[in-house]
Amino acid sequence: MDYHYPIAEALQEQLGDAITFEQIKSLLEKPKLAEHGDLAFPAFQLARILRKSPVQIAQELAGKVSSPYIEKAVAVGPYVNFSLDRTHVGREVLNEVIREGEAYGNHSLGNGRNVPIDMSSPNIAKPMSMGHLRSTVIGNALANIVQKMDYKPIKINHLGDWGTQFGKLIVAYKKWGTEEAVRANPIQELLRLYVEFHEQAETNHELEDEARHWFKRLEDGDEEATRLWEWFKNESLKEFQRVYDRLHIEFDSYHGEAFYNDKMDEVVDLLKEKELLTTDHGAQIVDLEKYDLNPALIKKSDGATLYMTRDLAAALYRKKTYDFALSLYVVGNEQSNHFKQLKAVLTEMGYDWAQDIQHIPFGLITQGGKKLSTRKGKVVLLEEVLNEAVSQAKEQIEEKNPHLKNKEDVAEQVGVGAVVFHDLKNDRLNNFDFTIKEVVQFEGETGPYVQYTRARALSILRKAGQTSFDPSDAYALTDEYSWEVIKLLQEFPSTVQRAFERFEPSVLAKHALNLSQAFNKFYTNVRVLEEHPEKQTRLALVYAVTQNLKEDLRILGVQAPEEM
Ligand code: ARG
Repeated sequence: MDYHYPIAEALQEQLGDAITFEQIKSLLEKPKLAEHGDLAFPAFQLARILRKSPVQIAQELAGKVSSPYIEKAVAVGPYVNFSLDRTHVGREVLNEVIREGEAYGNHSLGNGRNVPIDMSSPNIAKPMSMGHLRSTVIGNALANIVQKMDYKPIKINHLGDWGTQFGKLIVAYKKWGTEEAVRANPIQELLRLYVEFHEQAETNHELEDEARHWFKRLEDGDEEATRLWEWFKNESLKEFQRVYDRLHIEFDSYHGEAFYNDKMDEVVDLLKEKELLTTDHGAQIVDLEKYDLNPALIKKSDGATLYMTRDLAAALYRKKTYDFALSLYVVGNEQSNHFKQLKAVLTEMGYDWAQDIQHIPFGLITQGGKKLSTRKGKVVLLEEVLNEAVSQAKEQIEEKNPHLKNKEDVAEQVGVGAVVFHDLKNDRLNNFDFTIKEVVQFEGETGPYVQYTRARALSILRKAGQTSFDPSDAYALTDEYSWEVIKLLQEFPSTVQRAFERFEPSVLAKHALNLSQAFNKFYTNVRVLEEHPEKQTRLALVYAVTQNLKEDLRILGVQAPEEM
């Protein structure tokens, strides 16, 4: 139940044709001061239409408007301030949260249509970077969000498993690497070779030529090149999988760039057919001047295809395979131009579905204010971050709850959850500087704070000996603290919708934090376990909070331990 509806309805009854229902609903706002009630309606816009002053309109409306949801309506200057009927609204909200369980906050917008989400997509033979972690957790949260809107998410790991860097790697391996060293420590050794290549290439320019040559051999299906490439790829995937397992993230497809090798001729032919290709210094390009973009490079002068060519092939493949309603690409902000070009080329090709493609950019993670660079070997190793977070979680648990069962498991859930939540709690476009200490802090606005709040709420229910509730019981709570909690529970469905409209998981992270704070205040001020006529209903509220926090965390991809 979104109480904007009944209030807007009551207003509409008074206003008739002067203004539409949707307009009324969108004008309703939260009053800045709590003592001004729960919702406010500004009368400015009506002044012109009704030819009366906003103050007069507000007064008239306040005197007439009525609904079982409204306890009182008061005019304050040009505003009508509404206080909702707490008994009525509270009862409905608690009923709904408990009755609907995990389905609470579901919408039916998507009609089951497909939404492929290009996410994570790390590059083979390199460590997974913090940027790829962002893409992974944001992508996963968006998958859960679109699912709540009744779309079917398809999580695609568009692995960076093709491109000139494999030529470099093969050269470096043949010159400075050994099989034993790679087997012993694949990613680190491959990274070392990659960095070595770039260092040497600064003075030895022939290396770049050799690398191009080896990549060409790979593209032509040369046996040795292919064997090395497959080996590097398998070793990388094993490492990536360890991270995905710890994050509890699964993919529906691992079709990376190499998958499109045999699908690129088709793209090039189509571009030719549509007379979109031009030659520039021997290279094939699509001119995008009319989009105010630089040309898209489709084929190099030596015939090698590019990142863009593969993305074009992938877009066509996804449309054909999934007939998507929307196609999302969760990729760092620095690739904005690439995705603008991608959309522009598809538009030029005459595909109106190009407009359903959306780049979901996110900000950079820096260290000491500086960008991390794989080429220079400056990387934060993700597994080390997770391990560190888990070990700090364990310390906290030892201190606070030494007798906890499954300490190891809980520490894993809390440590990893801290990292994920930290990544999702701010607007995705914000850059942030990465310091491990800050990530694994357990006080304040953190994942562990939300997890802990829920675990504590569960322990209250255990103490009360009641863990299930019948939604048909009549619930009504009217005190200030309960009301703040109820309002946040009530806002959950519209919060999900907002997270979807903005493709912004932080909206839900903030909801989880606000609900946790409101609940903790409630619990400090209301004696839940004491005998009282409202005891049963208070416990129902605690139960509803445990449900809603769990769902917030589930959507964000954070585990919710039962005890902490
Ligand atoms: N592998 C790329 C990188 O790490 C990201 C790929 C994103 N997805 C795509 N379809 N281009 O930069």
